Order: sequence, then C-alpha cells, then structure tokens
Amino acid sequence: MQIQHATRESNQRAQERVEVVPTAACLGAEVRCGDVRALDADDAASVYRALLDHLVILLRGRRLSDPELIAFGRRFGELDLAPYAKTGAEKQRDHAEVIVVSNVLENGQAIGVLRDAEVVWHSDNSYRETPLSFSALHALEVPPSGGDTGFANMYLAFETLPAALRERIAGLSIKHDMTYNSAGDLRAGFEPVSDVRKAPGPLHPIVRTHLETGYDALYLGRRPNAYIDGLSVAESEDLLDTLWAHATQPHLTWHHQWRPGDILIWDNRCVMHHRDPFDPGSRRVMHRLQGKGDKPALRSDSKAGAHPRSAACNQ
Ligand code: SIN
Repeated sequence: MQIQHATRESNQRAQERVEVVPTAACLGAEVRCGDVRALDADDAASVYRALLDHLVILLRGRRLSDPELIAFGRRFGELDLAPYAKTGAEKQRDHAEVIVVSNVLENGQAIGVLRDAEVVWHSDNSYRETPLSFSALHALEVPPSGGDTGFANMYLAFETLPAALRERIAGLSIKHDMTYNSAGDLRAGFEPVSDVRKAPGPLHPIVRTHLETGYDALYLGRRPNAYIDGLSVAESEDLLDTLWAHATQPHLTWHHQWRPGDILIWDNRCVMHHRDPFDPGSRRVMHRLQGKGDKPALRSDSKAGAHPRSAACNQ
C-alpha cells in the first residue's frame, strides 16, 4: 500500500481513532479502530502503518461477510487470487479472493485447505516469483483449544545472526519448492519431489530488503525441499538447518490464540508463520485474503541498524 499523505491535522485525528497496543513479544500489536467496515482513508493508513511497525496486527470484532472482508483487504493493496492454494480435493471458492482454511467436510468434501494438520513455519507463497506482501486471516469458527498461529520476526532473525553466519550467506539464494502446501499436501497438478535441486520454484535471495520499511530481513520461505543454490545438497541441508534453528527460536516469536471475529494481518516480507494442530473433531473455519507483492531483492541502499520493533525488543 502506498500510504496516502494526509494533512498533519487529519493524521493526528486518525491516530486518535486508531489505538495500537503492542504485544509483550518482539512482534505483533492489537489495533483498535472500531468497525473495520467504516475506516476512512486516514484510519486505513494508520492501520497499515501499524502493520509496517509491528509486522503482525490483530483486529478484534464481528464476523464479516466475504464481500466486507474483501472490501477491507482492498484498503491495503491489490488482492491476489491464490492460484496455487488448491489440492483439488476442496470445494470451489465462492469468491476468487477468499481462500477457505478449514478442516470441515460438507457432504464428504473439504470446504477448504490445510485440514487440521500442523502447518509448518513458512512465509506465504515464497514459491512464486512475486510472493505475497500481506495475508489476512479472519476467524469464523475456532476450536476450543489448539490451532494457534505463531509468527517469527525475520528482521530480528537477520539482525541477530552471528557474524560468521551472515558472511556465509552473503550473496546466496534459496530455491523455493512449490510442490507441496504448508500442511504437506501435494498441490493440484504437481509431481512429488525426488531431487531438491530440480524442484519447481524460483530462486530468492536469503536476505531481502523490505521495500516499504527499507530494513533487511532473513527470507527462508519454508524448510521442506528448500535448496541453497550452488551448494552440494548436504552443505545446503546443513546450512538451512542452522538458519532455521536460529530463526524459529521462541524469543523471536509470538503466538495468537484465536477468538471468533478476529482478523490477523501479517507482512510476509518480514515474518514467517506456523499453525499448531488441533482436535480433528472440532471445527475451525477461517477466511483468508492475500495481497500482491514484489520480487524479493536485496538492496544496497537498505537501512542500517535494527527495525524499530526489533530495537525495542532488544532493550
Ligand atoms: C495459513 O498458513 O495461512 C493458515 C494459518 C492458520 O490456519 O492459522
């Protein structure tokens, strides 16, 4: 989203209407802004600013219809139609922009994707040339326990990398496999992977610059079938294991326990996320949107030092 430049007076008013309450962790904030269907341009810009500042934002409220959710998502940029979020076993979407994430079956057919399985740490759609900017998940039905979603601050993961490891990854890229989704299901139209070097998917730099904040972040995508270009498979596996162990340390993360009506928005350019499994006998129904992004790149003019949220966390 291009933040619209409102006058100082109207910005001030929007800040008063939009309250941002950071979590006690190193990322995440609750944004209190009243009815999300009634945001004016200044309010929407303040909400988006909170996303850039805190990496993940939570808005609590009422259940939105799909058209309302789509209208809300469009306030933050052009929506993506998720062409690969399909295994072929789920029902056709009612709205092209809304992906249903659910374990519920209707007449024996899945109404959505990802089932009740654990969803491994990942950054959404890293397997595409232009991965997503943001994703938004709206909770319609949640299980009594389990199914929490966790986030990792990838600016902080990069900022806290040991110097030798930073040097080791300088200039390297990861090949991001697109064969399986984050619950381990084979996507429609893909064949299982037998050699990670030949898996279908783009190369992206291991460190990317966030084009809107200007800070660098570690960009790992997802672990299964990843490959660091130019290394032997054994060297690549070893280095990836080290980077993943570093990036998913609990002190770099924050986990959210869902309530119906919640909307979480996260910035895929600087966070990874993960979902805990939950009781298959309970229902979990979430509606998801995703925003179009840019091709990951490392810029020579990126900002030095820590992203302000990481800096606050390290104090
Ligand atoms: C996702 O990875 O988009 C789903 C996360 C969740 O179901 O909590």
